[in-house]
Amino acid sequence: MDTTRKPHVVLGVTGGIAAYKACELLRLLQKGGAEVQVIMTRNACEFVNPLTFETLSGYPAITDTFDRPERWSVEHIALAKWADLFVIAPATANIMAKMASGIADDMLSTTVLATQAPVLIAPAMNSGMYLNPVTQRNMDDLRSLGVHFEDPSTGYLACGDTGVGKLAPVEAIAEHCFRLLHRCEDLAGLRVLVTAGPTREMLDPVRYISNRSSGKMGYAIAEAARDRGAEVVLLSGPVNLSTPSGVTLVPFTSTEDLLHAVLENAPGCDVIIQAAAPADYRPQAVAEQKIKKQGGEPFVLTMVENPDVAATIGRQKQPGQTFVGFAAETEKVLDHAAGKLLKKNLDLIVANDVTAPGAGFDVDTNIVTLISKDGQQALPLQSKRAVADAILDEVLRLRA
Ligand code: CTP
Repeated sequence: MDTTRKPHVVLGVTGGIAAYKACELLRLLQKGGAEVQVIMTRNACEFVNPLTFETLSGYPAITDTFDRPERWSVEHIALAKWADLFVIAPATANIMAKMASGIADDMLSTTVLATQAPVLIAPAMNSGMYLNPVTQRNMDDLRSLGVHFEDPSTGYLACGDTGVGKLAPVEAIAEHCFRLLHRCEDLAGLRVLVTAGPTREMLDPVRYISNRSSGKMGYAIAEAARDRGAEVVLLSGPVNLSTPSGVTLVPFTSTEDLLHAVLENAPGCDVIIQAAAPADYRPQAVAEQKIKKQGGEPFVLTMVENPDVAATIGRQKQPGQTFVGFAAETEKVLDHAAGKLLKKNLDLIVANDVTAPGAGFDVDTNIVTLISKDGQQALPLQSKRAVADAILDEVLRLRA
């Protein structure tokens, strides 16, 4: 991107009740210093008059209302090249389906297909449409092709339902846009190993013991490190998340699998971030056949301690390697975390009270305190992605 001029954003608006919020988004992008041009689908024009976007942006709003497809061939290439960033907000299930299949049958789908700029999608629709496996599959396909998403929130929807599908707050979409526009490559040349998600400790062929880790924090770190130019290896337990594009994924199941995968991949990595939630114990024996009911007798299970993966990495840490761990606590958070920093030979520990609202399992936000040997920094409630960037900033500071 030419940094001597204002960043260029093409804002695609599709037909949903949240289209009016795109006016506010346009304003926020301008306030942040961007120049914005708008493309509206025919349906979007039913919700907001193009004149509103024209007045706000200072450019003609590009629409399909005049049915002159011959215009597309000229304008779509010009705008596709003009964009430093393409954001579609709100994005309907329809535009995502078209993008996932390469369909270009109107000005917006044609231009986004032609652009080389990063693309950010902020979906908004009824929960049923959003959760439909076809929509989810299209989103997964787009993610794996490198398209960025600002996921919708849960709340009261225009259709009267309550559920997921509400356009993400425009402030969060704008913040995401600026992150993509000012993407720095400050981790270029570094190899980063991230572990994420829970382990499963098998009891018999059909049962296991696990924990509530969703893997979201580790995945956010892997994505942030990739976006900042690092080469990323992601060791992942069983999670319901799509593999971030451009990241090498190594799956694991049990804590012992994780230990082997870490020992194999850690040498040669500059930064190791142990965000996984390994089980501390595993059943002493894995039954070969499904365990049967005990005829009313209590079922007694003997568990043995698993290896402490972080402590093992800590002992084998090479000069020049930066090692980050997590401490998910329910009491005496900072004391326990500081103890683990020393015990596991970590350079940084990310402490969080998993009982605090907005922190912990399967949510998109977190509240953490970063503790290193030279001090601690309490961060406010923010998205897991913003926490990920703060952790990486701290890693760079410690390596400086
Ligand atoms: N950890 C690990 N291997 C284990 C247990 C934990 O690598 N068997 C790592 C976690 O990934 C985390 C850090 O150690 O980065 C702290 O994990 P936590 O569960 O908070 O601490 P524990 O050492 O398990 O201590 P306790 O459960 O007694 O609080």
